[in-house]
Amino acid sequence: MNKGIQNIFSEVPETYELVNHILTFGLDVVWRKRAAKVAAMAGGNRWIDMCSGTGEMVSNLSNIATNGTQIFATDFSLPMLNKARLKPNAKHIKFVLSDIIKLPFQDDTFNLISISFATRNINLNRDILIQNFKEFYRVLQPGGYLINLETSQPPYLLIRRLFHLYIRLFIKQIGRTISGSGAGYEYLSRTIPLFYYAEELADIMHQAGFKCVSFQKLFFGVAAIHKGIKQ
Ligand SMILES: C[S@@+](CC[C@H](N)C(=O)[O-])C[C@H]1O[C@@H](n2cnc3c(N)ncnc32)[C@H](O)[C@@H]1O
Repeated sequence: MNKGIQNIFSEVPETYELVNHILTFGLDVVWRKRAAKVAAMAGGNRWIDMCSGTGEMVSNLSNIATNGTQIFATDFSLPMLNKARLKPNAKHIKFVLSDIIKLPFQDDTFNLISISFATRNINLNRDILIQNFKEFYRVLQPGGYLINLETSQPPYLLIRRLFHLYIRLFIKQIGRTISGSGAGYEYLSRTIPLFYYAEELADIMHQAGFKCVSFQKLFFGVAAIHKGIKQ
């Protein structure tokens, strides 16, 4: 378990959503809703949101799931999960405290896995990310989908430079001011510019075994939704 990352998130549950909404001008809300719609198209009756944090993504999933869909959420930070348990529809969600490195589920358990704004955190390096995606693959049923929403790299140099400048100038300062966590937002501002282009992340999903990997870029490519299937 990566105690450093776990401690960072355990410090910020109270202000986590507010800081995200401010830093993205509310776009994170729109993007999670869009990813949840893409995810729901996959159908099936057993879904899980990985690294759920305060539960915004799993809450969206729960809102659009058909009756009878079992919905799980997992995270290794108890303070984050406890915050998620306060969501209005939390009674429909089963919360599981776990590291995604080794999930407490049997092979072929879920029809759908979602993960939003957390892939950077499980990307300690490229090989470890592939390993972690393989763990997702293991617990997916054949025909099941992985939906991944994460920051990305805008393809155009000028936009990419502006994006990175914005991160350098504002994320650490605004995050620290509102949350009081210097380390947390220092970590965020360091990892975003280093993360993969959408095409590279698609390649990593392929290497973990996913097929038919596709993606849509969001807002000039600052974020992307990836989709892959276990065949
Ligand atoms: C940036 S937050 C994203 C939360 C949420 N998915 C969202 O859309 O806002 C990252 C979350 O991933 C969790 N996390 C990071 N590494 C993890 C791991 N190895 N296993 C389980 N949870 C992890 C953290 O505790 C944190 O709650």
